[in-house]
Amino acid sequence: MSVIRSAVTGVGSYLPEQIVTNDDLSKIVDTSDEWIIERTGIRQRHKARDDQPTSDLATEAARRALVDAGRDPSEVDLIVVATTTPDMTFPATASIVQRKLGAPTCIAFDVQAVCSGFVYALSVADGFVARGHAKCALVIGAEEMTRLMDWTDRTTCVLFGDGAGAFVVEPREGQGTTADQGVLGFALRSDGTKTDLLYVDGGPSSTGTVGHLRMAGNQVFRHAVVNIAEAITAACDKAGVSVPEVDWFVPHQANQRIIKGVGDRLGLDEEKVISTVSMHANTSAASIPLAMDAAIQDGRIKRGDLILLEAMGGGLTWGACAFRF
Ligand code: UT7
Repeated sequence: MSVIRSAVTGVGSYLPEQIVTNDDLSKIVDTSDEWIIERTGIRQRHKARDDQPTSDLATEAARRALVDAGRDPSEVDLIVVATTTPDMTFPATASIVQRKLGAPTCIAFDVQAVCSGFVYALSVADGFVARGHAKCALVIGAEEMTRLMDWTDRTTCVLFGDGAGAFVVEPREGQGTTADQGVLGFALRSDGTKTDLLYVDGGPSSTGTVGHLRMAGNQVFRHAVVNIAEAITAACDKAGVSVPEVDWFVPHQANQRIIKGVGDRLGLDEEKVISTVSMHANTSAASIPLAMDAAIQDGRIKRGDLILLEAMGGGLTWGACAFRF
């Protein structure tokens, strides 16, 4: 039976120039390169310039993804930006990206699911594309997490960084089988009883300030490993594939120990798991497309591969998505 699938036809990413090493951070808080590497796998993170808002990072990643897809900004008809660090409270960062790209009048809005934002945004775009409401969609994860750091809190400020990544998503006709190119299945979750484990202590309708990120790190860690494993299994079930069939796991890049913990729980082959957390730390909604782009650039991920994305973050929210590239 012929079906329309949402295919990922282009991938791009962007990291700001400035690199902040673990040693740099050990000069401002009581930490060390050894502690950070051992507990997280992180070696460095990137930091945006003061005059470089999230939309700049998003626009550059989107341009690169459009080039990769062989598409022009004039063809874009949907822009979904997953971000928890918008340029402004409003308008949506997606509308600013639309202007900066020079895209025509189209659909543009933001999705806020923190570190799970990219998986949520991809599922939203899938709804538009697979139902015929969009023909050239941009799904962007873009974050400047360094803006939310309390630089006196060593338990959080060493963990996060800035960056952006983007997918171009277009309709492709498939046969309704797991061999089809495009999104095959996803699982999205939220547990609002756990908002106090990971949050920013500010906002327009509470404090009137931007606020700083607060996290009960080890509790989030425990939930992450269990929840992500469940979502991966559920997304694979929806897609009609088995976990061992997946060619590449592209996890949210928060902590190498979480990535390994999930892998061990599901019995994943370590060789199939893409990890870039050492290079850019936790970039929240940007981390999945950043990791995906890195693995395409180095030749690991190829067209036709079965990919599994997964993430977990504030909310708590979490989710997974299986697609054939
Ligand atoms: O994207 C999703 C959101 N976030 C995450 O996924 C992060 C989830 N959590 C984690 O990655 C880990 O829990 C952390 C990396 C945040 C912490 O690792 P941990 O192994 O859970 O350490 P811990 O919180 O149990 O702390 C152990 C010790 C503590 O000292 P005491 O109380 O045992 O004396 C901390 O104060 O490590 C100390 N510590 C540090 N020491 C040096 C915490 N942060 C640091 C630091 N440098 N930066």
